[in-house]
Amino acid sequence: MRPRSVHLLAIPLLLAVWLATGTSLAAQITDQEYAERRGALAAVTGEGVILAMGSAAPPQDYIPFHQNSPFRYLTGFTEPDAALLMEVREGEVAWEALFVNPRDPATETWEGYRVGPEGAREATGIQGRSVEELQQALDSLVAAAGARELQVVGAYDPDAAIRNDVTQRVEHLVEGHDNLQVSTAPNGHITTLRGVKSEAELELLRKTTAITVEAHREVMRAVQPGMNEFEIQALVEYTFRRYGSERPAFASIVGSGPNSTILHYNQNDRFMEEGDVLLVDIGSGYGGYAADITRTIPVSGTFSEPQREIYQLVRDAQAAAEELAEPGVHFGQIAQAAAEVLARGLAELGLIESPDATYEGEDGQEIPQLRLFYMHGLGHGIGLDVHDPWPPVLEPGVAFTIEPGVYVRRNLFDEVIPDTPRNRALMEAIRPAYERYENIGVRIEDDYIVTEEGLERISPVPREVDEIEALMAEPWDGPAPRNQEWVEWYRLMK
Ligand code: GLY
Ligand code: MN
Ligand code: MN
Repeated sequence: MRPRSVHLLAIPLLLAVWLATGTSLAAQITDQEYAERRGALAAVTGEGVILAMGSAAPPQDYIPFHQNSPFRYLTGFTEPDAALLMEVREGEVAWEALFVNPRDPATETWEGYRVGPEGAREATGIQGRSVEELQQALDSLVAAAGARELQVVGAYDPDAAIRNDVTQRVEHLVEGHDNLQVSTAPNGHITTLRGVKSEAELELLRKTTAITVEAHREVMRAVQPGMNEFEIQALVEYTFRRYGSERPAFASIVGSGPNSTILHYNQNDRFMEEGDVLLVDIGSGYGGYAADITRTIPVSGTFSEPQREIYQLVRDAQAAAEELAEPGVHFGQIAQAAAEVLARGLAELGLIESPDATYEGEDGQEIPQLRLFYMHGLGHGIGLDVHDPWPPVLEPGVAFTIEPGVYVRRNLFDEVIPDTPRNRALMEAIRPAYERYENIGVRIEDDYIVTEEGLERISPVPREVDEIEALMAEPWDGPAPRNQEWVEWYRLMK
């Protein structure tokens, strides 16, 4: 049995992290902010009829429901089958209504409580109507406005092989309107609006990352050789839920040994061995907002020399990127700086022939050898979606990840590099290094907010080699007691 006092000592630390993230009770997004978002959409739209389509109820009521992000962004409403209809005149919202499922005690017995039109108004400040009136309201509005176009918000895609719920709902509504074109122009505007976050959104991002930080800390303390990846996934998702996270924002990636080299691995069912690295890429969904943090740790608790070499290279690339990230900088420049660090380092380790060396692709094209080991982008926006819209040039209020990686895959020689005379020479040249690093996949991913001053990292999980090894050396005999401040916080948020 390990001493309990360690857990108690951990509480002030966690609390410090939570408080350092600027906890305030003002994190909820207000009705006024939602109204401002709709106003901003109206301003860029100018004139016309806008239909924002919520997600349909799942085909079975025992399948979890998740509201689509553009609809949630405009309304904050999270019940199924809803729709928002707006008339825009001279760049302003001239009329709007939120159409929702009506109260129905018999259905609610199975599916849960509905707020109904009156409750929707109370919850959002938008006038509520029954969704059964949507068709008629749309027909009248289109006729009265003389609209030839219906401007749809949501994933409307009539050309898709399988039409999604939003497409089906829109098609049904416009069936009788032969002269009504459907446009998805508002989606582009909403993408732009979502790229820069409000204070309330940033606060929710800080909360969801703080929960994810705690999950990573649990993992670092808990991992032991002989455990299965699914035990770690369980600990992660348990930690999310016990701090009020609605769900993992994406399928948790818990990949050990060879699985650490698979970018979006999520089977999470392998017994971990002493000499493996474990790549844990996880994110809580809290208040609708996604965190996305990756750490790669040695299952034994101590990095082997080859593991440390790859790890430090990835960490150096991340540091180079962080150094450059500030308002006014194009992310492409940042990505280039990280790629240069990786290319130089891989050449020094002998995994590629030189920083700008290429190999021959299937069709004879020249592909940078760097891409054999680093095959994804450096980062992406975060927000309501784990891959959220963001502008190419950083500005205050942008939230994003920096996540370089190096992955030494076991099928590199047999399946990935085409078998040509020139490539055979390459393979011979890098074989000794390849054998040294095979099955090591390392990604380090942090979450950031761009501020007026520069950059705020909101994911303070240990990430230097010595910090990780120190936390892994701490004893663990079960999840830490719940942080009562956090419990109180989410109670107040209800
Ligand atoms: N977790 C998915 C990603 O890092 O993009
Ligand atoms: Mn990511
Ligand atoms: Mn990730």
